[in-house]
This record gives sequence, C-alpha cells and structure tokens, in this order.
Amino acid sequence: MAEMSTETKAIIERDKRHHLHPYQVFDAMEANGALPIASGIGARITDTEGMEYLDAVGGMWCTNIGLGREEMVEAIADQVRKLAYSNPFTDMTNEPSANLAAKLAELAPGDLNHVFFSTGGSTAIDFAYRLIQLYQGTRGLTEKVNVISRVDAYHGQTFAASSIGGKPGDRIPELQFLDNIHHLSSPNIYLYGGGLSEEDFADKLVAEFEDKVAELGGPEKVAAFFAEPIMGAGGVVPPPANYLKRIWEYCRANDILYVSDEVVTAFGRVGEWFVSETVFGIQPDIITSAKGLTSGYVPLAATIFSDRIFDVISDPGAGRYIPIGFTYSGHPVSCVAALKNIEIIEREGILEHVREVGPYFMEQLGTLRDLPMVGDVRGSHMMACIEFVRHVETGEPYPDEIDIGHRVSDICDGLGLIVRPVENLNIMSPPLVITREDVDFIVATLRKAIPLASDAAERAMAEMQDEFDD
Ligand SMILES: Cc1ncc(COP(=O)(O)O)c(C=O)c1O
Repeated sequence: MAEMSTETKAIIERDKRHHLHPYQVFDAMEANGALPIASGIGARITDTEGMEYLDAVGGMWCTNIGLGREEMVEAIADQVRKLAYSNPFTDMTNEPSANLAAKLAELAPGDLNHVFFSTGGSTAIDFAYRLIQLYQGTRGLTEKVNVISRVDAYHGQTFAASSIGGKPGDRIPELQFLDNIHHLSSPNIYLYGGGLSEEDFADKLVAEFEDKVAELGGPEKVAAFFAEPIMGAGGVVPPPANYLKRIWEYCRANDILYVSDEVVTAFGRVGEWFVSETVFGIQPDIITSAKGLTSGYVPLAATIFSDRIFDVISDPGAGRYIPIGFTYSGHPVSCVAALKNIEIIEREGILEHVREVGPYFMEQLGTLRDLPMVGDVRGSHMMACIEFVRHVETGEPYPDEIDIGHRVSDICDGLGLIVRPVENLNIMSPPLVITREDVDFIVATLRKAIPLASDAAERAMAEMQDEFDD
C-alpha cells in the first residue's frame, strides 16, 4: 500500500486533535483517525489520496439525488447572489420558503398543509414535540402530556428528540432524558419475534400499546405516539403488516396525535415522496422530514402538520402566537435547494427508478444469506441492512468487542465500498440514482468482505480465549 501523503496525514492529525465527531469512539479515533473525503459525484466519493468509493450509505441516509449536480450548484449560487439570508420571524418571508411550504403541502398526505422549517431531523422532531404540547395545552388538556415511542427508535439528538429515541446504546446513565416518554417493544421480528407469526407479533405489539395507554391513565393522559414508519438507525426494521395502521386507528379513535418520523423514508428512499399513507395506510397528524429534502446539499428540515392542529394553535381572534423559532427557519438558500431537489426527482423519474432498482437491490442482497455469518437481510428499496451472527442456526451474536460490523466495513473500505457499521449490522442507504451495476458491485464486494471478516473475527476470538486461559 502506498505511503499516505503528508497533506492527508496533516488533515487526519488536525481532525483528531480538534474535531469531535458525532458518535466518535475515542480510542478508535486516537488509533486510526478518520477517513478524509475530498470530493463526490453521483454515488461516488473520493478521499484525499485519490481513492474512489461507492458510497452505499448515501452520506448519512441523505444524498438522494447524488452528489455534484451542476444545476444544484447553480440554483444555490444564484440564490446566494440574490438573497443569501432573510429574517423568517413573525411577519417577514421570502419566496423560496413560501413556495417550498406550498409544494410540501401538496406532496404530503391529507390535510398536512402547514410547514415549520428548521435545520435538521432533530429540530424537526423537537418542534413536533413542542407543537404537541402547545396543541394539547391550548385545548386545556394539561394532563395529556405522555408520549409513547419504541425501543430501538432513533429520532435525533436534541433533548426532546434524544428522549423520544429508544436505542439502548444512546440512553447511557450519564445523560438525562425527559421522563414523560415511554418506550414500547421494538417491532424487530428477527430479534424479538420469539418465533411468533408476523400477525401474532403485530397483535402483541398493538396490545402492548393499548395496555401502556391504560397504564398511563387512559388516552386523556397520552399526547402522542412517535414512530419511524421503517425504523432506520435502530436496525432497518420494516414493521409487521398492519401494526402501525392499527396503532394509528387507535390513536385517531382516542384523540392521541400520531407523529410519523419520515426523516429517512421521505423523498424517495422507498420510492415514494412520503410512505405513511401510500405504503402504510396512515394519515398522520405530523410528518417530520429532513435529509433527502435537500439531498444533503445544505441543511433543512420540515415539520409538516395538519389543519386540525393549526386551527387549535392559531385560534382566530385569540391573539395567540407560537413561541418557537430558529434563525435559520425557512432559509432561502436551503429552500431553493429543496425546490430544485424536488424538481430533479420529478423530472428524472427518480421515484420510479427506486421502485425498479430498489427491489433488485433487496433481492441481490438477499443472495448473501447463503454466507454462514449472515443472520438476516432486511429493509425496503434503498434502505437495507445485513445482520451478522456468529452462528446462523442459533442466532448467537458476536461479542461486542469483536465489533463485527466494523470489521466488515473496514474490509469494504479497502475494496472501494462504504457501508455503515452499527453494532452487528451493516446499514446501507445509497443515493437513489444507483444503477443495477452499482448494486452488483455492492453485493460482490460484500460477498468478498464478509468471509474475510468472519475469519478475522474467529482468529480474534481464539486469541481472546488464549489470553483468558493464560
Ligand atoms: C428517523 C430519524 N429522525 C431524526 C433524525 C435526526 O436527524 P438529524 O441528524 O438531521 O438531526 C434521524 C437521523 O438519522 C433519523 O434517522
């Protein structure tokens, strides 16, 4: 392997010393540093040493239309020249944010006609949480404050969003969380189905939800339910059939708001603008979105909510106001990027492309099930994950220290493929524009990497055992 250039070494060193990364693992960072990426085009990124990778993670579930699009560059640059910023507060607006809000109201299901802009998925969730409080409080329902979420859910990083999240690894004792959020079982049938049929598992989850509402004192004490339609960071978990729809029906019948977190699933990842209604038959009260909204070119999030909520919080004639706002709400540059992104998705038929290539991606990944270490392959269209186990027959996982997801992804890096390691998983959410040939490359590379990682893991475990015996 060629010696790394002094420029790259310097970047890695500066980064190590001064840049704290999201989810940084301190010892690994100290030992290895981070991989510096210099450029990207379409689904491919290139590091500072000139090595090219197919980015099967799509940045962080977000580079939907692919990187380096000239017309995006032009749209963003034109808007910066014309109006780089304008105050969104109270009674001032700009054309891109008005146009984008109207476009999102058109694309979102049902009566979700109102849009609040912020900068990322976490702030979209945080706003949804506070909107719910405002809605219930304005109706005088001051005891309707509990929120129901699920174990393994991921909703972001603000205080409210991290409290609603339920990934066990995120809920460490050193941090504090809101105590009015209650977490039900994850809908991951592979890990927690206990041999039940999909239907029986769904029955169990719905019964658990209804029992929780009763335990909290009935619907009068429950403000809302938050759920990703397909869990993402918690392990790419398509829900059992009808489970979400049945919970939504219960919420509707019992005056509990339903928040569908579509930060990952919206804008084409599953071949739809939004999946709540089209795929799952749910008409949520609130949808949160970000990521694919601008395909990651610039930060933007949208919380889209119903006429029903707007009518209550605005309460005509009562002189109410909303005490929530961000400097960068409705940023004109971000809104122009989102409008251009949506235009490109429409013009190029990217949703149709995902409906065609997405099933091929899932089917081809599925062929990896014949490898001894592949316990499960799951997902939908352009969101997928592979779960690694030590023994498929028993489902015995690798010990945490083996960090099997990382071992596979490190080998893939060397072969020009980026996949995302999360515990025993490799998660993939490629740019939506990948081709069948790209899919073939991803699967062929994993087919090489997985057995190599498995051999290395076994050797490491044997060494651990030897050390233990000594
Ligand atoms: C479903 C979901 N909601 C919210 C978020 C938080 O988004 P952000 O990182 O943009 O704050 C994420 C991020 O991955 C997500 O997957």
